[in-house]
Amino acid sequence: MKHLLSTADLAREDAIMILDTAEDMAEVSSREVKKLPTLRGRTVVNLFFEDSTRTRISFEVAAKRLSADVINFAAKGSSVSKGESLKDTAQTLAAMGIDGVVVRHAASGAAHTLAHAGWIDAHVVNAGDGTHEHPTQALLDAFTIRRRIHGAASRGRDLDGVRVTIVGDVLHSRVARSDLWLLRTLGATVRFVAPATLLPAAVDEWPAEVGYDLDAAIEEAPDVVMMLRIQSERMHDAFFPGEREYAREWGLDDARLSRLPKTTMVMHPGPMNRGLEISSAAADDPRSTILEQVANGVSVRMSVLYHLLAGPEGGAE
Ligand code: NCD
Repeated sequence: MKHLLSTADLAREDAIMILDTAEDMAEVSSREVKKLPTLRGRTVVNLFFEDSTRTRISFEVAAKRLSADVINFAAKGSSVSKGESLKDTAQTLAAMGIDGVVVRHAASGAAHTLAHAGWIDAHVVNAGDGTHEHPTQALLDAFTIRRRIHGAASRGRDLDGVRVTIVGDVLHSRVARSDLWLLRTLGATVRFVAPATLLPAAVDEWPAEVGYDLDAAIEEAPDVVMMLRIQSERMHDAFFPGEREYAREWGLDDARLSRLPKTTMVMHPGPMNRGLEISSAAADDPRSTILEQVANGVSVRMSVLYHLLAGPEGGAE
């Protein structure tokens, strides 16, 4: 594997390999000395043109636990705010001999362009491109589901028959898209529940069921309910009447939480709007995997960086 740009083209065996290595990485993270020498001498740049808390820190922790040198580049405060383009930024990094680039950008397709335009010969990891994809989020979600279901016997397993309901702002969500492709590849079924205005037109062609009624979806007792953040920063129009109305119709509130089976996982990629798409009680419930997702994100990103950057093809060494 040279790059990780999407889950749509990630083969089942590669996905399972990444998840299995992440199990080993989780074991490393549970040790007193949480460090492997694997990426010593390699340099990874976190190139974030969009805001991020957990994804950026998670990639930084992951690279450092593998002993890579890590450079954090936030577009705010850099020459990007002076109008420097992705191309110039990439060429500047290439001139410095960077081995891996973790990129987040508001434009769908930015990671693909960076990987294939010939500006830089580095391994590229997509950390979110516009509304398109966020593959490491999907991998950490799949890892979290697999671990909750199979525990210590997770290695080698897929998500055959697992029923996942994804609720909310599907239209603007790269997480929903990456999750759909990966979960389907691993054998799970996916249902989207959202107001019609927050579903993309293409949803009819996707391998997902679609519903508009969260209460009906909860009646079906899914294995996983994944709440999506309302992405106000991507909304230049009114997509729903108001926040109270949204929370009443599509929020995981306390009443809906009480009707969920004891075994249903409650997921959210973060950052959360507590009280809007998810209540505080739901976020903090034992069924919630939200902090497990964050912890697992480090293991999964260690695995991805390891598979891309370790070994003879991995870097400049
Ligand atoms: C997601 C993102 O940035 O796409 N967050 C994340 O990476 N944990 C989802 C979101 O912003 O709502």
